Amino acid sequence: MDRIRIRGGQSLNGTIEISGAKNSALKLMAACLLTDGELSLSRSPRLADSRFLGQLLAHLGVEVEEQAGSRLRMHAANISDPFAPYDLVRKMRASFNVLGPLIAREGKAKVSLPGGCAIGARPVNLHLEALEALGAEIELEEGYVHATAPKGGLQGGRVVFPFVSVGATEHAMLAAVLAKGETVLENCAREPEIADLAGCLNAMGAKIEGAGEAVIRIQGVDRLNGTDWAVVPDRIETGTYAIAAAAAGGNVLLKDAIEDHNQALWRAMRLAGVEVEAESGGVRIKRSGPIKPVDIQTEPFPGFPTDTQAQFMALMTLADGASIIRETIFENRFMHVPELSRLGADIQVRGNEAVVRGPSKLKGAPVMATDLRASVSLVIAGLAAEGDTIVNRIYHLDRGFERLEAKLSACGADIIRESE
Ligand code: EPZ
Repeated sequence: MDRIRIRGGQSLNGTIEISGAKNSALKLMAACLLTDGELSLSRSPRLADSRFLGQLLAHLGVEVEEQAGSRLRMHAANISDPFAPYDLVRKMRASFNVLGPLIAREGKAKVSLPGGCAIGARPVNLHLEALEALGAEIELEEGYVHATAPKGGLQGGRVVFPFVSVGATEHAMLAAVLAKGETVLENCAREPEIADLAGCLNAMGAKIEGAGEAVIRIQGVDRLNGTDWAVVPDRIETGTYAIAAAAAGGNVLLKDAIEDHNQALWRAMRLAGVEVEAESGGVRIKRSGPIKPVDIQTEPFPGFPTDTQAQFMALMTLADGASIIRETIFENRFMHVPELSRLGADIQVRGNEAVVRGPSKLKGAPVMATDLRASVSLVIAGLAAEGDTIVNRIYHLDRGFERLEAKLSACGADIIRESE
């Protein structure tokens, strides 16, 4: 297995091009099941996760083709069998999102339950309740969801989410676009990926209003057509490289980054003494002075994203003083703490709060992590540490970061991928 070796101490200077958002691309890919036309996604990130979903789509009968220029073409002329087996769903949780489109298009589906993962139990009850509100009959048997639409297909309905869920909001949208009549979704997630999915579905002929707001209204249509869609730039990749530049010091332009998608992070970074400026074509990050401690709490968008909590914690180990980091979205998202401690960080965890006492003089060491954002926080710490940090188990990084070593080394980082 490969690992990444980082020799810390180099500042980052230059331009990093931001890829398409993994968490948007995965839902856009599921949308291809809703039409017998072609869906072509540009700025599609080449990641292990999108390949896993591509394999599942191919299993369902979809033609999937990676084309030049980060383009992904998908054509679901026919669904061979609306069955998503455990082996293909377990590799990547977002595969579960094929359930709604399959019921909407085929009237029935059998899809494996995704199971928990390292960051928490991650149940799918809200997804299933939303599909039931559209008339689907759901039975759970031997780890599989067996779902059937009523005669005549899914019916519009009202769903009031008891709390905000990105995946359940998207899943409900993916099913409701082909349901008969109006669907109203309340207390929806407002992440930019939701608006991206709605934009693509509308370009396919759907009628969705309010995506990006708490209430989404969908008028069902009889059929959708194919389209060309550009995946939104990845706000989590943006935030990650912004924090990397802050930790290492330097001056980096994050090309194609959308400033507005990371306001909570920018606020925290500015308080920490980092310069963040929107400029034409992206967002510029500069840091030369000391890093100040800042308390953060993760929240649904537009709050501070859980997907940059680990990276921000790595930055706070360098800050001059104590900061408190509270994780409110997932119950087990501090796996990076013992690994950051191996690099010399002083962090104490109490329940969902971590107290980080800086500034630590980080020293390189072998480390590994069990999810992708935790892994990349170790890369960030490694950039700021003295000596060599070796990040093992990098398949986690490959799931969510496109050409990570190439992007960082082009800005002066001393980082290579090597075989164990
Ligand atoms: C999405 O996960 C992202 N994944 C996550 O990114 C991200 O951390 C998360 O949203 C929050 O922003 C993808 O988009 C593929 P949720 P999702 O449903 O949709 C609970 C990464 O690193 N919940 O908003 O699964 C759930 O357990 C990943 O790229 C239920 O209880 O997140 C969590 O505590 C990690 N029942 C909370 O809601 C449900 O039916 C919010 O989860 C659904 C969720």
